[in-house]
Amino acid sequence: MVLDALKGVTDPDLGADVVTLKFVKDKDIVVDGGRVAVAIETATPSPSKRAALAARVREAIAALSGVSSVDVTTRYSVKAVSAPEHGKPPLPGVKNVIAVGAGKGGVGKTTVSVNLAVALSKSGARVGVLDGDIYGPNVPIMLGLQAQLGTDADKRIRPAEKFGLQVVSMGFLTQDEAPVIWRGPMLHSAIQQFCREVGWKDLDYLVVDMPPGTGDVALSLSQTVPAAGAIVVTTPQQVSLADSRRAVRMYQKLKIPVLGLVENMSFYECTNCHHQADIFGHGGGEQVAHQLDIPFLGRLPLYQPIRVGSDRGIPLVIAEPDSEGTRAFMDLAEGVMTQLAIDAHRNIAAHKGKIPLIQVK
Ligand SMILES: Nc1ncnc2c1ncn2[C@@H]1O[C@H](COP(=O)(O)OP(=O)(O)OP(=O)(O)O)[C@@H](O)[C@H]1O
Ligand SMILES: [Mg+2]
Repeated sequence: MVLDALKGVTDPDLGADVVTLKFVKDKDIVVDGGRVAVAIETATPSPSKRAALAARVREAIAALSGVSSVDVTTRYSVKAVSAPEHGKPPLPGVKNVIAVGAGKGGVGKTTVSVNLAVALSKSGARVGVLDGDIYGPNVPIMLGLQAQLGTDADKRIRPAEKFGLQVVSMGFLTQDEAPVIWRGPMLHSAIQQFCREVGWKDLDYLVVDMPPGTGDVALSLSQTVPAAGAIVVTTPQQVSLADSRRAVRMYQKLKIPVLGLVENMSFYECTNCHHQADIFGHGGGEQVAHQLDIPFLGRLPLYQPIRVGSDRGIPLVIAEPDSEGTRAFMDLAEGVMTQLAIDAHRNIAAHKGKIPLIQVK
């Protein structure tokens, strides 16, 4: 009866009921007289989504006759967005790679990467950051990390740990004059080798801070690291929007799904009175997203503590957890997790469960 009742509980994002989704099975239900205990799986670690689904489950079971109490617990399971059309093996230890790119430099890719990673981790996910910017590796600065490159027992690169994140910077590749000779195929194989030899540990999400633009390194990296989705960062000015069109097209050509466009430095937020002003105009990012037929993932304020946090190595999401900016990053993280869950389940459904999910070793 309980399982039957749960067939009426739909996951609003995935559009299917929790029994069909295999989020709850017979063994997850314990009935003791009028007391019912259910353990249910959720597609993302998002606390609000978990609470919402648990509430629906509780309501459906409580409506059954003879039920005196309902106890619902949740556990999350992030599925890999397998992309068989890419034909590329996934990175070992990583379920989903999120590429953060832009058509040009200085729009806030690293800021978004780092804060998004912390926001994902705060939501309960296991998260890593790969600093893919060979020529301007800023991730270690923004996370307050000293450059270090240890190896693990398998002789793979051991990620540094900070704020609960696993972190590796490709800037370590270019500590001598080497980049001068790295052109074309050499650059490509160096990036490939580096990316494959990192010992990531059970990551739900790996956020990759992409180098600026759509040049050699960005292309190589996009081809090497099988991204489940890409986020394109832009600022409201017209030039930047034109550039972000190019970035979006690059990902589309590489068959990397574009998760959406984020407008950074969207409006100015005063640190004293929190008044907000649209100094670069309003709605540009949304318009471009609409024109390119990709989702608009939100607006991030131009807010001094974001810059200060970057310089000090303490991301805003940690330094000011209750700020408007942090809320924007948390919303971004939630949107990204939800979209990846939808994509993963769509792929599973498309293959009717016949193709197994990518196994994380
Ligand atoms: N929303 C924001 N509010 C305030 N400062 C910001 C914001 N976003 C980025 N910055 C600041 O702007 C500068 C550029 O940001 P960031 O380094 O993240 O850009 P980027 O796109 O990664 O640049 P690059 O192309 O050089 O890698 C940094 O000093 C950063 O602290
Ligand atoms: Mg950067």
